[in-house]
Amino acid sequence: MKIYVINGANLNLLGKREPEVYGYDTLDGINDEIRDKAADLGLECEFFQHNCEGEIIDRLHEAALNADGVILNAGAYTHYSYAIRDAISSIKIPVVETHLSNVHAREEFRARSVIAPVCEGVIAGFGKHGYLLALTALSEIAGTIDKTER
Ligand code: DQA
Repeated sequence: MKIYVINGANLNLLGKREPEVYGYDTLDGINDEIRDKAADLGLECEFFQHNCEGEIIDRLHEAALNADGVILNAGAYTHYSYAIRDAISSIKIPVVETHLSNVHAREEFRARSVIAPVCEGVIAGFGKHGYLLALTALSEIAGTIDKTER
C-alpha cells in the first residue's frame, strides 16, 4: 500500500518556526521517521510539501490515482480552504487530517477545520507522533473504506 504524506503552508519551516509550538524537528527529519515506521508496517510513502493551495489540490488528485491513503497537514489552509475540502471529498481514498499542535487549545480560529467533515479522522496535539499515529491508522483502514457509503 502507498500513502501520500502532504504538508501545506509554512511546514517547510519546521524546526525553525515557533519551535515551542511545533517542536525542533525539521520536516525532513520527521519524514525520515515516517519512512522508517512505514517500512515496519510494510507501507510505502511519498512526501510532498507546498505552500500553495493549488499544488496541494493537484497532489490530492494525484493521490486518488496512485495512493491508498493520505496524511494531510494543510497548515492554516485547514481553517478556510473550501477548495482543499472539495478536493478531499472528490477522491475516494481516506485522508487523515493531522496537526502537530492541539489546534483546540490555541487561538479560536484554529479550532475550526473546514476539512475535518470530509476527512476519515483527525489527529492533533501529539507533535510529530501524530504523523506516525495517522500512518498506523491508515495501515489498518486503507483499502477497507467505501467512501460512497458516507
Ligand atoms: C498546524 C496548525 C495550524 O493552525 C497552523 O496554521 C499550521 C500548523 C499544526 O500542525 O499544528 O501551520 O497545522
